[in-house]
Order: sequence, then C-alpha cells, then structure tokens
Amino acid sequence: MNKRLKKLQEAIGKAKLKGLLLKVNESGQSTQPNNQNVLYLSSFGGSTAVLLVTVTGAYIVADARYWTRAKLEAKDFELIKVERGKKVSHFINRALSEAGITQKMKVGFESHRLTHQVFEEWQKDLRAVLVPTTGMVEQLRQYKEPGEIKELRAACKATSKVYQEVVALMKPGMTENEVAFEIDSRLRKHGAVDNSFSSIVASGPNSAIPHHATGERKLKAGEPVVMDFGGVFSGGYCSDITRTVFVPGKSPTAKMKEIYNIVLAANQAARKALKPGILYRDYDKVARDYIQERGYGQYFTHGLGHSLGLEAHDPFDYEKAPLAVGAVFTDEPGIYLDGIGGVRIEDDLVVTADGAERLTTAPYWKF
Ligand code: GLY
Ligand code: MN
Ligand code: MN
Repeated sequence: MNKRLKKLQEAIGKAKLKGLLLKVNESGQSTQPNNQNVLYLSSFGGSTAVLLVTVTGAYIVADARYWTRAKLEAKDFELIKVERGKKVSHFINRALSEAGITQKMKVGFESHRLTHQVFEEWQKDLRAVLVPTTGMVEQLRQYKEPGEIKELRAACKATSKVYQEVVALMKPGMTENEVAFEIDSRLRKHGAVDNSFSSIVASGPNSAIPHHATGERKLKAGEPVVMDFGGVFSGGYCSDITRTVFVPGKSPTAKMKEIYNIVLAANQAARKALKPGILYRDYDKVARDYIQERGYGQYFTHGLGHSLGLEAHDPFDYEKAPLAVGAVFTDEPGIYLDGIGGVRIEDDLVVTADGAERLTTAPYWKF
C-alpha cells in the first residue's frame, strides 16, 4: 500500500468519515485534466474516474476507455468497471457496497473540486451521507518527497534548456506569438507533455503587464521581453520560469538596466533568505523590502511566489504552513512601469536542510 494513501486513510479516520470520494474534473479548457489529487494518490493519469478511499480500502471507478490504464497505473486500487447504459452513480454505489458502507454512514467529498451539479446528482443517487471536506489531499501535497523533487529538478532543467535555445534565436521583427511557438515546440522536444499555462511573451511596453496576453506585436531592437513559461512533464510535475531579456541590435535604456538589476538582486536576496521554517510572508518581505528601499515598492504589484508541483500554482497553506524541507516555491519579483516596460525574474526553489536549491538553472541577462 502506498504511503500517501495510508496517510489519507488515517486522515479519513480522524475526520470520523468512512471514506472519501474524489472525482476527476474534466476542465474542457486544457488537454490536461484537473486530476492532481487523483494522480497524486493513485498514479492514475486519465481524465475521467471516481476514487473511493476508505479507512482500509481503495477503489477506482472507471469506464472502458480507462480500464487498462486504471489497472496498470492505479495498482493499489480495486477497479470497478463502469459499463455502458447505466449511470456512473450505479458503479460508485457498487464500490460503496463492496467497502461495507451503508446508507447512514458518512462519506466525504471534495467540496472545492466537485461541481454543484454532480453533488446534487450524488446526493440523490448514492447510498451514503455526503459530507463536504476541503484540502485533505492538498495538505499532503505541500511538502514534496525526494522522488517528486527529482522530477521537478528534471522538469526545471529541461525548461532552462528551452530558454537558452529560444533566447539565441530571438531577433527584431519576430512576433510575440512566434517566440511563444519556439518556446512551446521546444518544451515538447525536451519532454513536456503540455504547457503548465499559456506561455507569456510580453515585448516592449507589454512587458509592464504582468500577465500579458501574447500577441502579434513585433519585437524591436533593445526593448525588454518578459518570457514566462513552463511545461507539464511526464510524471505530471510542472515547471515555471520567467526571464527578462533584451532584443539584440541596440542597447537597453538606463532605466530598464536599473530595474533589471534591482529585480535580480531582490530575487537573489529572497533565495538566500529561504530556509526551513520561514513563513511565506517573511520570504515575500525580503524581496519586497529590497525593492521598496530602492523606490520601486509600488511597482511590485504581486506576491513573490507560489508553491509548485503537480499544479503550476500548487496548494499550500500560505498563512500558517512553514516553508519546510521539501516545500517548492517560485521566487519571482517584478517591477512594472506602465507604458515603459517591466522586468520579472522567476526561479523555482526547493527548501533544503540548510537553505534552498535553485532548480531553474537558466542564466540571467548579462548587459
Ligand atoms: N505565469 C504564472 C506564474 O508565474 O505564476
Ligand atoms: Mn511563471
Ligand atoms: Mn510563477
């Protein structure tokens, strides 16, 4: 039995529940299903399934498209086959019955992931008392195991290679979309199965928009380009990197050089401050204070970073959970001068026993 499943089973017992139901939500917006909790617990990577985890058992309810994968991937789960012509609820009930769960027993569901429509259907059809839960699996995902860090390290290394290849071919006249195409195809070439979010290529004044929508604007010599991208790699782990570069052919302005150097120093200061036990707000404060002291505080308009893992923005208790060993966080300060240009530099860091390791090995800009 895998350790993650065991931990969840303990939590289910402690919550005085007989089981927990997890449903993969197909988002319809991405080729990647919103299945991170299911993937984390079972290794099942498909886009449609329901898991039932009880205090002592584990079941996967899947249709014929996924029978083979469910058997191969979700080895600790008993497969309940959904057959054509009957509602999925019928087969979830079969799992509940096999688990010995009766009509009056409490079974949790993930209230933050299930749609209201499915909840109503389950409430009508399922033989159990449904109880809302939040974050039972997300809590386990906050600190990464050595195997997960290995995957994240490989993902970040491949993503850093993509950066180096793309920066070498950037020239005036290319459009933002053309640069994004080079990023996306190279992510695939280096092992990504998808993007972790739509690649951001923001040139000239667009670089002052933190999450600019990449478009048809042509790059001009000497201007800044913010490139923010990442891949989802085969184990499901995401990378997330930002580099600000300058289009060759002309020297960047003194203002852009000034803010670049401040953002880079803030990024480095935060990395040096990251060590086991620090709270997110104190980590954020290191970069924020640095930028503030140099007069640009009001232009650093977002948080310093976020947890990274199976999701580009992985779940984390930012208020209370310390950044302990195994926490993986981005370090992405920025300064955005409206109408002029912006700089963001983003690294992915993992907290180690004595500090932090930088996973994104891509070099910074050298003037
Ligand atoms: N582009 C998403 C992020 O850096 O968080
Ligand atoms: Mn990013
Ligand atoms: Mn990020």
